[in-house]
Amino acid sequence: MSIVLTEQRGAIAIVTINRPDKLNALNKVTIQSLSDTLGELERNAAIRVIILTGSGTKAFVAGADISEFADFKEEEGEQLARQGQELLFDKVENLRKPVIAAVNGFALGGGLELAMSCHFRLASHNAKMGLPEVTLGLIPGYGGTQRLPELVGKGLAMEMIMSARMLNAEEAFQAGLVNRVVEQEVLLEACIEIAEKIATNSSTAISAAIVAVNTGMRNRAEGYEAEKTAFGKAFGTDDFKEGTTAFLNKRKPQFR
Ligand code: COA
Repeated sequence: MSIVLTEQRGAIAIVTINRPDKLNALNKVTIQSLSDTLGELERNAAIRVIILTGSGTKAFVAGADISEFADFKEEEGEQLARQGQELLFDKVENLRKPVIAAVNGFALGGGLELAMSCHFRLASHNAKMGLPEVTLGLIPGYGGTQRLPELVGKGLAMEMIMSARMLNAEEAFQAGLVNRVVEQEVLLEACIEIAEKIATNSSTAISAAIVAVNTGMRNRAEGYEAEKTAFGKAFGTDDFKEGTTAFLNKRKPQFR
């Protein structure tokens, strides 16, 4: 059985991390396979939105695979973080197509870090989210110290990282970590509904917006510059022509 499953529903791809017996923990092979899959989907012109989830009903991803790094030394540890961030977490965040996390259970450590790399998140009622690395004598190494404060603010992020406390789905919603909480049985459908709406909009404009938002999260001044440049470039696209013409002719746009 494949470690990463992909299902296509029209212009939407559902990517499922498939190690349910290990609560979908991210080992090396899974990270590589996810990275490859996302790269292929980014290049596939038929796909406009990606939904990322975990198999089974218990976990999205219960973290990096602890059994793989239990005997690591300093250098190997740093390498693990560098390679993982480059190969998967930064890639997800900077993918030119929207990636929605469907958090269907535990999202811990690398699991929450993966969900936070996605462009936004929906969760099921049973979801639990936290960064328990300090219980292992570690700190988050896949971007958690940076993305959690961005999403929930420094105070709550510090508390979560220091205490290893998990937020339940309602707390995660209140904190702005997830956009919506739904029953587990309808989680994928809820993500698909949003994805279908996104898929009707201009994919070139959406890609440009992803770049502008991400640039600004790294550096505010550069973000405003990126926005101005990308805004100008949009006027040269077919999608701009189609969008404005459709509006003026009182019809729905048909973006390629
Ligand atoms: N790495 C490797 N294996 C993991 C794992 C991880 N991060 N999380 C869960 N697993 C494995 C367990 O070892 C177990 O495998 P086994 O059946 O071969 O023994 C299996 O997944 C099921 O997990 P289990 O702990 O039995 O389930 P549970 O319901 O009792 O507890 C959790 C669920 C999520 C609370 C618990 O698995 C856990 O604390 N996981 C680690 C979370 C973590 O620290 N993540 C950060 C890593 S940096």
